[in-house]
Amino acid sequence: MKRKPIIAGNWKMFKTVAQSVTTALDLKSRTYNANHCEVLIAPVFTALKTVADRLEGSQIRIAGQNCAAEAAEGAFTGEISAEMLADAGCTHVIIGHSERRQYYNETNALVAKKLVRALTAGLIPILCVGETLAERDAGQAEAVVTSQVLEGTRSLTAPDLFRIVAAYEPVWAIGTGRAATPEIAQSMHRLIRSVVQEKFGSEAAQQLRILYGGSVKPDNIASFMNEADIDGALVGGASLDAETFSKIVFFHNQN
Ligand code: 13P
Repeated sequence: MKRKPIIAGNWKMFKTVAQSVTTALDLKSRTYNANHCEVLIAPVFTALKTVADRLEGSQIRIAGQNCAAEAAEGAFTGEISAEMLADAGCTHVIIGHSERRQYYNETNALVAKKLVRALTAGLIPILCVGETLAERDAGQAEAVVTSQVLEGTRSLTAPDLFRIVAAYEPVWAIGTGRAATPEIAQSMHRLIRSVVQEKFGSEAAQQLRILYGGSVKPDNIASFMNEADIDGALVGGASLDAETFSKIVFFHNQN
């Protein structure tokens, strides 16, 4: 099955509102003709609405980097609901990023709740999974990722799988300059697809887009995109600069 690639930029906790707008508009002018893939950026919360407004009419989609696990609104100081992200102009939301799991103790159970909230709000969640270096060294990478997928999707039904995206981001490859080899990434992506297939059926599994994340750069993106089960990238550091990120968007020119 042909799956349309997604090239997503996770800006993490970088950029002021003004800097976010500048980068977003620069990216817009560099990628207006990128019809071969979906382009997505995830600015900080405070910049979402302004960036979304300034990008109106462009094909760049906006994602939140996280959302609340609770209600659409309520007494949850400091939280932002999926509905509020949609209201600010988001179409997607990143859920369960390893930095959330590591630094904010997000569990698979919490990730499962957030996925439901995102879907209820009409957002497309990007479910992130990935093992740490210690887990890989201990031979547990497959088991960890399998349980992240199964537990994270435990409240979902097969039709829900048509409205989510997955991302494999090995923790040891994030921000380290040490990307996974395409072979390792491919074998983990194939595992994720087979786990989804077993639980939700082959149609759901075959259409599911699985992004690779971890030190993606213009000079290695093509090697990942050549793999059968890699359907795009979730890019951190290299997405902060519009020129660099647009080279990743046009991955087929980077061979
Ligand atoms: P880097 O591309 O900076 O390694 O970050 C990857 C990432 O965490 C994207 O969500």
